Amino acid sequence: MFSPAARLASKRMLEIRQVFRQFPQLTVESSTSRSFSTALNYHIDSPDNNPDVPWDFTDANKERVKEIMSHYPSNYKQSAVIPLLDLAQQQHGGWLTVSSMNTVAKTIGVAPIRVYEVATFYSMFNRVKVGKYHLLVCGTTPCMIRGSREIEDTLLKHLRVKRNEVTKDGMFSVGEMECMGCCVNAPMITVADYSKSSEGYTYNYYEDVTPKRVVEIVEMLRRGETPPVGTQNPNRIRGGPAGGNTTLLGEPKPPPCRDLDAC
Ligand code: FES
Repeated sequence: MFSPAARLASKRMLEIRQVFRQFPQLTVESSTSRSFSTALNYHIDSPDNNPDVPWDFTDANKERVKEIMSHYPSNYKQSAVIPLLDLAQQQHGGWLTVSSMNTVAKTIGVAPIRVYEVATFYSMFNRVKVGKYHLLVCGTTPCMIRGSREIEDTLLKHLRVKRNEVTKDGMFSVGEMECMGCCVNAPMITVADYSKSSEGYTYNYYEDVTPKRVVEIVEMLRRGETPPVGTQNPNRIRGGPAGGNTTLLGEPKPPPCRDLDAC
């Protein structure tokens, strides 16, 4: 009899093997768990993603680039690589083309490989197209124990996509992220909203989600509504215990010897 953890580990291994079969050019080094969630750690030229496709920041974003660069000494311009990649990704509908990374490299005066290294390391940088709403399911232990696999399966089935695939209307994609620091309200998903470009970009947490609730969230987003962020459990206030406090209910006693003269 296999334990649930062993079953999950073997399912994970199977998924990794499938990726290797699909992309034989992947090497062990290029598919560590951090990058598995985005499933792409190499570049293949395509008609809309090759170094000959021109890409630049918009005029408004060029001003933001100047503002970002002003935070760094002129001999440390390369430190702006992450905020500039983030801005480029927001402007480009949620993913980075090789040309956009080349533009960032030129802006900060480094070799393009220095930018590729950063973009391939951090899983928040997407190097393939994502939906206008990129839904990220937390797959780390506390969320997994609280049902994140079921959440992901529900989203994939509801949207009729595989992980990291975009729906036909370009509205949604589903990815996986590791712990997003919200374990107290597990399971949780994040919605990266690229529908309003860099001007209206948001990255919202939805916590205490259930399979039913994630479907409702998706449908609200489809209608152009903004579901209330944070916990989705009406019995919880922010990160407090669900159902309210069960201890420390009375007024705390004052500290002894408040009146120092009386001690
Ligand atoms: S494990 Fe999901 S937020 Fe920490």
